[in-house]
Amino acid sequence: MLILGIDTSCDDTSASVVEDGIKTLSNIISSQNEIHKKYGGIVPELASRRHIEMIWPVIDEALIVAGVKLEQLSGIAVCHGPGLIGSLLVGCSFAKAICYSKKIPLVAVNHLEGHIFSLFLERPTFSFPFIAVIVSGGHSCIYRVERFGNYTEIGRTRDDAAGEAYDKVAKLLGLGYPGGPLIDKLAQRGNPKAINFPRAYLPESLDFSFSGIKTAVLNFLKSKRDSIDFSNSLSIEPGSQKNNQCQKTDIKSYISLEDIAASFQAAILDVIVKKTEWAVRKERIKRVVISGGVAANSELKKRIKELSAEKDIEIFIPSAHLCTDNAAMIAAAGYHHLCAGNIAGLDLNPKAFLPL
Ligand code: KG4
Ligand code: ZN
Repeated sequence: MLILGIDTSCDDTSASVVEDGIKTLSNIISSQNEIHKKYGGIVPELASRRHIEMIWPVIDEALIVAGVKLEQLSGIAVCHGPGLIGSLLVGCSFAKAICYSKKIPLVAVNHLEGHIFSLFLERPTFSFPFIAVIVSGGHSCIYRVERFGNYTEIGRTRDDAAGEAYDKVAKLLGLGYPGGPLIDKLAQRGNPKAINFPRAYLPESLDFSFSGIKTAVLNFLKSKRDSIDFSNSLSIEPGSQKNNQCQKTDIKSYISLEDIAASFQAAILDVIVKKTEWAVRKERIKRVVISGGVAANSELKKRIKELSAEKDIEIFIPSAHLCTDNAAMIAAAGYHHLCAGNIAGLDLNPKAFLPL
């Protein structure tokens, strides 16, 4: 069964052809990072306009790479939320138009369901039930997944998402956008114990809270402004680092960006790792998938490997390109909807807020 997946939920235009929910024949992603990076975050109007420009060529390429014609498709799976409404509208409208003109069944997929089902593209035999930890730019939540279509939310962020914290802190440090990969790289050369940023463990709860850490980094930067080495900043904000009068003479009182990045990252990852362990204990399920953009983090992978070995838990993190937004995960989840007969009407409307 061949499914064309489409994801335009945020700032990446993506299309993919997946066979039987597990075999990726193509997965094309057109990134908008270059457009948004000068603003330090996504500008929704620019994102939707770019989706309109890219949707056609990206879908064409996905079909060509897969060697598949529209007529051969069993269905088109489109992400209908949650996400930026203008961006979602582009993917949904395009999918509906193809389905109408070619008489192909339309399938609506929740973006979070896609992140969970990215698992089966690389581990088709992973068994239910399992815990799904989704840590991305828009979401940080934990689900108990009983089987396809049966998801119980057991934790969620009370404020910022993990990726949002990465992006906001990267902006404070003048690093650019998206912040996650930049901080990930910088942190590899830093000391995670240099600064003791707060960890919001929220005892007894599987919820997250990442807004405090961003404020802690901001307060730290304000208090140490004159003793931070910003030489690793990629883009420099006016009035702050650019005019930094940092004297490199007193090497002992000097704090590197690498140390700040590593210390910030340690605080975020400590919480994610701990909550994963708590979820396993609470639900008594020793199988976990961690996905979403932040799951692409190199240090998280190491930490999770340790947790897995230490506590004998089967934990799977998809490859980086399947952790961040992609349409293969939408096609993978769409396959199960199609098998279950969940066909969407051509009056399908996207929703910015769409709980799983
Ligand atoms: O899943 P995703 O592509 O989009 C959403 O659904 O939000 O996640 C994007 C987020 C961004 O906040 C980005 O900074 C973060 O994932 N991210 C990372 C890494 N790669 C992307 N965070 C930490 N380490 C990374 N290597
Ligand atoms: Zn996502």
